[in-house]
Amino acid sequence: MEKTQYVKDLKDKDAVHSPFLVKFSAIATGKNGRPYMNLVLCDKTGEVEARIWEDVNQYAGQVVRDALVLVEGKCQSYQGRKQVVVGRIQVLREDTLNLKDYIPESSVDPEDLYRKLLGRIEEMQDPYYRALAESVLRDDQEIIDGFKKAPAAKSLHHAYRGGLLEHVVSVTRLLDLVSAHYGKWLDRDLMFLGGIFHDIGKIWELSYDRVTEYTTEGKLVGHLVMGVELVTEKIRELESVAGRLPGPFPQDKALLIKHVILAHHGQLEYGSPKRPKCLEAWVVHMMDDMDSKVNSIAMFMEQDQTQGRWTALNRQHERFFYKSDWVGEAAAAAAAAQASGGATSGH
Ligand SMILES: [Fe+2]
Ligand SMILES: [Fe+2]
Repeated sequence: MEKTQYVKDLKDKDAVHSPFLVKFSAIATGKNGRPYMNLVLCDKTGEVEARIWEDVNQYAGQVVRDALVLVEGKCQSYQGRKQVVVGRIQVLREDTLNLKDYIPESSVDPEDLYRKLLGRIEEMQDPYYRALAESVLRDDQEIIDGFKKAPAAKSLHHAYRGGLLEHVVSVTRLLDLVSAHYGKWLDRDLMFLGGIFHDIGKIWELSYDRVTEYTTEGKLVGHLVMGVELVTEKIRELESVAGRLPGPFPQDKALLIKHVILAHHGQLEYGSPKRPKCLEAWVVHMMDDMDSKVNSIAMFMEQDQTQGRWTALNRQHERFFYKSDWVGEAAAAAAAAQASGGATSGH
């Protein structure tokens, strides 16, 4: 079944007739005591809230997260936001659809990004740090595959397939620029390794076959600790193979990379058990923070539908943003590419 209507094009009073992916589904009770269904529908261009008011019980257990559904209804504006009022909804089989239409993905080729990251590793001088980087990105196929697919977050930044790799390549590029500027005070290899490892736990913290969700391991342990566990495991593996390292992995180097991972959220209230206590950890934190903020704000502006220069309220940053000229140009280019059948991912 063809995908003919995309979320970002839906306007007030539009008739809706198209397949979507269910991102969220819950049954609630209305003021009249009758049940209704709260949905978030999505495709590669964005997401939209939806409501089913009638015959809700027949959909329970079917119209669930990750289901692909054909929706017939109407788009309306509710409290300044788009909402689809569903008339009919029907669960579809995956083999009748092209999943790529429903899952946002990086606009950059993951193979290109992966080659760039391998290039960074080849620049590393320290044999211990370099071997540790190679043990994950050159030698561990499960990690390489996960890196190419994983998003960097559920919704905050780089929240699309391949987003983790895009984010990590971008962070290592920023670290390269910073080390050229402040080189005499910084251990470049430790920063590169920190850039590569800081979010690596997200490969297992999130599940991303369709809709991105936190895994149980992600909820209970989280990507910072999972990254440190991976470092411990990989060092043990490297030490067990004769000739793989010049000697036993130095303890201070192992502690420093673990610290960079644990400190990268910068503050205790953002989930770091330790605040940055060496310059490299602080710089990795700042470049990570910059890259995630620039990406999330740029995406927010690009997807904003408000007329004029100012965006709608950005809840994450608690402010309205001023839209520069490039925002309109990017939206026009995306619309033109879609009209000509090109596969844009909306960013
Ligand atoms: Fe992180
Ligand atoms: Fe990050």
